[in-house]
Amino acid sequence: MDGRRHIQQEEELKRNRYLIALLAVLAMLIAACSPADEGSDTTEGTDTTTASPDTTEGPTETTEDMTSTTGATGEGITVGVSWNNFNEPRWANFDKPAIIEALDASGAEYIEADAGSSAEQQLTDVENLISQGADVLIILAQDGTAILPAVQNALDQGIPVIAYDRLIENPEALYITFDNIGVGTLMAEVIYELVPEGNYAVIKGNQADANADFLREGMEVVIGDAVAAGDITIVCEEYTDNWDGAIAQTTMEQCLTDNNDDLDAALVENDGMASGVVAALASVGLDGQIPVSGQDGDTAALNRVALGTQTVSVWKDARLLGQAAGEAAVQLAQGAALGDVSGVIDFESPGGNTMTTILLDPTPITQDNLNLVLDAGWIDEATLCQNVESGSVEACP
Ligand code: GAL
Repeated sequence: MDGRRHIQQEEELKRNRYLIALLAVLAMLIAACSPADEGSDTTEGTDTTTASPDTTEGPTETTEDMTSTTGATGEGITVGVSWNNFNEPRWANFDKPAIIEALDASGAEYIEADAGSSAEQQLTDVENLISQGADVLIILAQDGTAILPAVQNALDQGIPVIAYDRLIENPEALYITFDNIGVGTLMAEVIYELVPEGNYAVIKGNQADANADFLREGMEVVIGDAVAAGDITIVCEEYTDNWDGAIAQTTMEQCLTDNNDDLDAALVENDGMASGVVAALASVGLDGQIPVSGQDGDTAALNRVALGTQTVSVWKDARLLGQAAGEAAVQLAQGAALGDVSGVIDFESPGGNTMTTILLDPTPITQDNLNLVLDAGWIDEATLCQNVESGSVEACP
């Protein structure tokens, strides 16, 4: 009897120990799931070494501070922006502030790198942004091909990438830009209406930027037939390293020399280069005599439009582009698929990729509609009308 009771007692003890152990495990499990642990959430998003986007955090936040139009809360998300340079005024004056404003609205953090026009530096910049904790990247590529390995590397780590303004041929990236073919068409329409026949110069942008060829493609839609028919002769056509205005000036000087100043129109792909082209024309007294195009709505270019030395600047409201990119970046970092981002369409790229794309509309600005940029708060009247004879254009009374 005693022996059996002893065995029974031993078994009871064992059962109790087992129960206690079980309870302990249960208690630990309950503790792990308890709200007390949520307190550590505040530090989670700031773990800048976390490479993969946190897809769960955003939706659990309160909706009170959601001022972003997409309704995405970006607390704890770090957005890395890789700029190729800040040469054109638009990047620092409009694109960057608009991205920051969109991120601020959702509580996301902004970090940046400036590659100073070096495609090689930009590869390092992207690496650095990732090691600084970027959960998503916005890349303005210096060279759409050279940047590809860095983009693939980011994507492989689960870091979404936005090809900003300029195409990057990777269909896993979100492409956010203006209709660049449309920009080329719009500038050519304005110039062609004024000069349906004669000698044309075509000053193209940086060859490593797909926009240079998109713009040229858009021009062809307008002038292609006239060129084929011999009504228009393209007497010079050159790419311009880095969209550099000084290089464009040299190209135009050479073009004028080669053609004994016999030039009737200049299709110039952006405003920075138009500034060089107009300077070259001025050096032979042809400024204001030959229609010149540009794009970006640079303040100096809009002033030239008012003065009559540049005919058209195709305006891309970069504030909208920056906003779209900032909002999309937050959505992607929260795990949205490319196709779920608001406003996307498919764009068939020259490299044969179907790019998920947000495509914004450009607006040609001529002397007739300068009020648009004034009304949009893009430029003030004093800047637009500097040295413009009062009343010579409607926008400068
Ligand atoms: C292009 C862009 C233009 C222009 C240029 C120079 O890619 O579309 O707006 O600014 O770069 O940076």
